[in-house]
Amino acid sequence: MAILKVARIGNPVVRARAEAVPERAIRSAEMQRLIADMRDTMHEYDGVGLAAPQVHLGIRLAVIEVAEEDERAEDSVPFTVLINPRVHPLGKAMQTGWEGCLSIPELRGIVPRFSAVRLEALNAQGEKYVVEARGFFARVVQHECDHLEGKVYLDRMSGMESLCFLREFERFHAGETD
Ligand code: NI
Repeated sequence: MAILKVARIGNPVVRARAEAVPERAIRSAEMQRLIADMRDTMHEYDGVGLAAPQVHLGIRLAVIEVAEEDERAEDSVPFTVLINPRVHPLGKAMQTGWEGCLSIPELRGIVPRFSAVRLEALNAQGEKYVVEARGFFARVVQHECDHLEGKVYLDRMSGMESLCFLREFERFHAGETD
């Protein structure tokens, strides 16, 4: 187990477009160790997702896991590995919701996202899967896949008025859905 160092905004790796993972590399011991370390790092910092550029690696890999006790989510999401993901909106409906990011510590902001998306990716064994994600899961998928394009949630906010520090978020806004 290893906790990886998280890159914050300002580090160019967070803003660079990540490169595709070669399929032959997925089952390597190195990649499997990286995936396990990203899972440990996400847990350590209480994240629900983590993308490889956030741990200084410009490759198209992200992990997502939403615990059952997470009050932001309607449903839990089991540990999910996204390699070379593609995301397509399912319809035009959008939802607003609060987001934070391990690369932008101590801040929260309201972000509009597609309510439902179709995710196509390879898993940790290099097998293709397709899932339809809705609600909070869809939000996390869009947030993590944005990281692979060098985008962060601040870029997706419709305005900066909602941006707040975590302490003020908990004091004034906790429990709001938008
Ligand atoms: Ni993030």
